[in-house]
Amino acid sequence: KYHYKNIRELIYRSLPEAYITILEQVGTIANELGCRVFAAGGIVRDLLLGVESLDLDLVVEGDGVEMARALGRRYDARVRVHPKFRTATVLFPDGRQVDVATARVEFYQHPAAMPQIETSSLHQDLYRRDFTINAMAVSLNQNDFGDIIDYFGGREDLERGLVRVLHNLSFVEDPTRLLRGVRFEKRYAMNLEPQTFALAKEAVRSKMLERVAMERVWEELKHILSEPRPGLALYRLQEIGLWDYLFPGVDYKQVRQVLDELPRSLRVIHTWDLAEQLEPWLAYLLALLSRSDADTAGAICRRYHLGQRWTDRVHAGLSGWQDVADSLQRAQQIQMSDLARRLMPLPEEVCPLILTRLTGNAARAQLRQVLSAINYDQPSITGKDLSGMGFTPGPAFKLALDAVWQARLDGLVRTRQEELSYAREYLAAYEGVINSV
Ligand code: CTP
Repeated sequence: KYHYKNIRELIYRSLPEAYITILEQVGTIANELGCRVFAAGGIVRDLLLGVESLDLDLVVEGDGVEMARALGRRYDARVRVHPKFRTATVLFPDGRQVDVATARVEFYQHPAAMPQIETSSLHQDLYRRDFTINAMAVSLNQNDFGDIIDYFGGREDLERGLVRVLHNLSFVEDPTRLLRGVRFEKRYAMNLEPQTFALAKEAVRSKMLERVAMERVWEELKHILSEPRPGLALYRLQEIGLWDYLFPGVDYKQVRQVLDELPRSLRVIHTWDLAEQLEPWLAYLLALLSRSDADTAGAICRRYHLGQRWTDRVHAGLSGWQDVADSLQRAQQIQMSDLARRLMPLPEEVCPLILTRLTGNAARAQLRQVLSAINYDQPSITGKDLSGMGFTPGPAFKLALDAVWQARLDGLVRTRQEELSYAREYLAAYEGVINSV
């Protein structure tokens, strides 16, 4: 199945209709402009593997910007041009993005001291890429739509399950490929090809990654933490000796288990439909730091320039999750409102971590209940009802509504009538206190 010469049929079978229409349009435009155009990289790999892929990267032998503009006109899409590299991004109204690159014919003296040879510009474009499985293209021109271009044996490596660099200096040219290689290896259950593995170890030994800006390292790390099973890739990273550089001060052995357990917890929480904004990468980062002290965690946040907002969430999560987990474990002795108050200031990304600590269905059910309460369980009465009862609006209203909310969680009030009288009593008592001061 990996030896297709043309994948037209596969494209029609695998991709959503809207996507296919774009590919066809691109082919039509290319014919009109008299240039050649290819879809390259991840899309070809994923089509051959039969997995879903949504990115579309185009390479144009000709003028990529012109192609992007023409495509943009046809779809009423915005086009962002990066003139320096003759690349452009087409931003479709439905949120889809297509990147268009220009492959220029240029004499390119490769640092690997290859003899300078004149090759097609597509060949040069693909040769700059990371791994053979990512360095394939498929033609979109009308006359040869679906033809596979595979100069480096990508199909064979896919079939054999090998992640292989195109040349010996690949990791030196771009050390973030160490992280990418591990990510693709684990995502597709492949292996780094032995020579590639040796080159990777060598790049680690000579500390290549230290030459890369931390923002770029983080970008790749975040990709890894967003994969379905980051634990596998993180294991591999510590195996090839990158852990201590990536997470200084964090003891891998202490967090390995929780990292392996997290995918399951995340799936469970996902089925609850209660944490829609949850960022999986942050859930993993919290798990990864769950045994570290605040200084170590703070240093990691600074290392990767996470910014105040995310750093605050990391700190809040780390300082509070254990307490919530413990409270849930002995849930019989604790009130719902008390649990809710403890969980509320924490980012929802700690929930998977908390879940890994809960034994028994009762505690898990209670976590679900608290989350649901925080998200949905609002009192039916509002400030209007309180003024309606003759109270003067002020800060006490918020306190009263909060008290009603808590009383509801603890089952002290159930109906709207009960909420009203609970609030009335609360406000009367509050006014009593104020007046007596
Ligand atoms: N690429 C590379 N070196 C990098 C980053 C990217 O050679 N450091 C190339 C790869 O060939 C890749 C393409 O650029 O296929 C697009 O990069 P990206 O979108 O990051 O990768 P995808 O292969 O699309 O992977 P994913 O499925 O994770 O989006």
